[in-house]
Amino acid sequence: MMKYLITGGAGFIGSNLANKIMNDNPNSEITIVDDLSMGKIENLETVDKMNFIKKSITDFDFMSDLLITNNYDYIILLGAVASVADSVERPYETHLINQDANINILETIRKNRLKVRKVLFSSSAAVYGNNPILPKNENSPIDPLTPYAIDKYASERYLINYGKLYGINTVATRFFNVYGPNQNPSSPYSGVLSILLDSLENDKEFNIYGDGNQTRDFTFVLDVVDAILLLLDHPKAMNDVYNVATGKSVTLNEVIETFQKIYNKKLKVRYKNVRMGDIKESVADVTKLKSLGFNPKFNIYAGLEAYVQKNN
Ligand code: UD1
Repeated sequence: MMKYLITGGAGFIGSNLANKIMNDNPNSEITIVDDLSMGKIENLETVDKMNFIKKSITDFDFMSDLLITNNYDYIILLGAVASVADSVERPYETHLINQDANINILETIRKNRLKVRKVLFSSSAAVYGNNPILPKNENSPIDPLTPYAIDKYASERYLINYGKLYGINTVATRFFNVYGPNQNPSSPYSGVLSILLDSLENDKEFNIYGDGNQTRDFTFVLDVVDAILLLLDHPKAMNDVYNVATGKSVTLNEVIETFQKIYNKKLKVRYKNVRMGDIKESVADVTKLKSLGFNPKFNIYAGLEAYVQKNN
């Protein structure tokens, strides 16, 4: 029986991960720390069987005590302000969450020589910035353009090099654009597909920032969950970073068209200026992750259909 700590575990990716772990192994012990800023308790299918703690990961002393008093096998760091645009608005506040809180956890592990099977940190494709060479592989040049991307990159490096320097088992993921059930559409900074779905279902106007020709490697959350579990378990995935995506990109306009077909409905759109710090094109090379046995199951059509189905 394994003990897991998932920060941000009531959020979008964290809740899908926690639900999958409980489904596969109902005897697992899962502790979730989430301040519910974007997450929701209802995202957790069996919250009564989990240890749910409503706290911010920036409560440094609390987090240190929690780690010291529990022997977690796996620590999965998903707690973050996930929005690039929000980090541009609130650079220092988001820095405390996206970087300092994670270093505090690494420091606690180091100082107390905690034995953890693996610590996984969720970094982001945003670290590659606007470098025009596509697809992005893990050795592509890094150009973090926003506080969000800078914090993700710095935390990722701290994690991997704490791993190497102090003998901690770590792995980092660079998620591309993840979508699917439990993604919260409530903020203008939410993931674009959650906003799009909400706009279609509730006949709201949808803002397209730019011309809609920006591309993204949209990745269905269950594929991301599979990747996380694979990386936690795989002995070769050690003190290293992996892209997590499908390896295929689509434009925002293409996604809108597909969604409209699924709903048989026309979306009301309004064109706005490109967002500050926005990346024009993004697609991943996922050769490295595939070499460990990863195989994404959802292309964009299958993913959008599964998303719509789960939402209704
Ligand atoms: C997203 C993730 C980020 C992740 C990164 C990795 C979110 C909120 N952000 O950033 O955590 O690290 O991918 O690649 O999930 N857009 C619109 N209308 C809207 C909202 C967005 O046109 O109402 C556009 C944006 O300007 C952007 C694209 O859609 O061009 C995607 O935006 P967004 O979902 O915010 O994601 P990223 O900025 O790519």
